[in-house]
Amino acid sequence: MTLHRFTPSDIQLFIVLDIMTALNTDSQRTPQTLAQDAKIKTGAPFLTIEDVSKVYQTPRGPYTVLDGVNLTVQEGEFVCLIGHSGCGKSTLLNMVAGFSQPTHGEVCLKNKRIAEPGPDRMMVFQNYALLPWLSAYENVYLGVDSVYPNRPHGEKKAIVRHHLEMVGLTEAADKRPSQLSGGMKQRVAIARALAIRPEILILDEPFGALDAITKEELQEELLKIWREHKVTVLMITHDIDEALFLADRVVMMTNGPAAHIGEVMEIPFKRPRNRARIMEDPTYYELRNYALDFLFRRYAHDDAA
Ligand SMILES: Nc1ncnc2c1ncn2[C@@H]1O[C@H](COP(=O)(O)OP(=O)(O)OP(=O)(O)O)[C@@H](O)[C@H]1O
Ligand SMILES: [Mg+2]
Repeated sequence: MTLHRFTPSDIQLFIVLDIMTALNTDSQRTPQTLAQDAKIKTGAPFLTIEDVSKVYQTPRGPYTVLDGVNLTVQEGEFVCLIGHSGCGKSTLLNMVAGFSQPTHGEVCLKNKRIAEPGPDRMMVFQNYALLPWLSAYENVYLGVDSVYPNRPHGEKKAIVRHHLEMVGLTEAADKRPSQLSGGMKQRVAIARALAIRPEILILDEPFGALDAITKEELQEELLKIWREHKVTVLMITHDIDEALFLADRVVMMTNGPAAHIGEVMEIPFKRPRNRARIMEDPTYYELRNYALDFLFRRYAHDDAA
């Protein structure tokens, strides 16, 4: 018998699924909460990060990772986050996902403080976080079933099939993660996140481990999905070209400790975007150089701490 060793990403997945089961959206959404949701929707800001600081307790004493982070994200926006390794990008998006809480300040979705994970915010990780003994289909089904346990089986099957088709994986539905390429695994992870119909899709360096061609293909697919699902996307990347191609705004973080948002660049290229065409635009190089200057001169990594 083969024993599975659980990796940190498996454990991350268990936590997410466990919390979703506890939330069980179908059973908890009373008419009263639905009315509250509707009330919250009207005219309220979408996602707000207000004066957020995060202090970790370490054996060497308190460590302030983030200090005074402020950001408002509009519904349907595509925001990319860049900054040097260790500055606190994942820490910030984990607070949006609800995996951890700010030490000071608050993160709110439609005026409601985010206090825990929920199916309205789904996260996709660089290392996929798929269960290795389940097929692509079963991995997506598990997510859908955890959030919508009371829906008819046929309906859940249809949701899974639809989302696998959307990411071009119909043929590979029965394969396990070990039989899938990195790009295919990331497609499963994206399908699993979207099948739950989140309002916010949080991507933590989702394409970091992929080759250049697969990465470009997935970027195009992600833009198509974003357009069709009208989901709000927050995505961490180390790739400035990726951020310029995808984002409405690029949020640039200063170095830690006590990192904050240094600058926010508006990306003006018309949509739908054509990679070749935007790369011919002189503005592309102005923005690219501006971001490079921010990261490698003004906030060069050696200046950290
Ligand atoms: N649970 C924790 N306890 C203590 N320190 C932590 C914890 N989680 C993260 N850190 C520290 O906080 C800082 C920010 O970590 P974080 O993972 O948010 O960075 P990041 O910007 O996402 O980096 P990368 O680009 O390498 O993924 C790092 O110095 C990290 O060591
Ligand atoms: Mg990170």
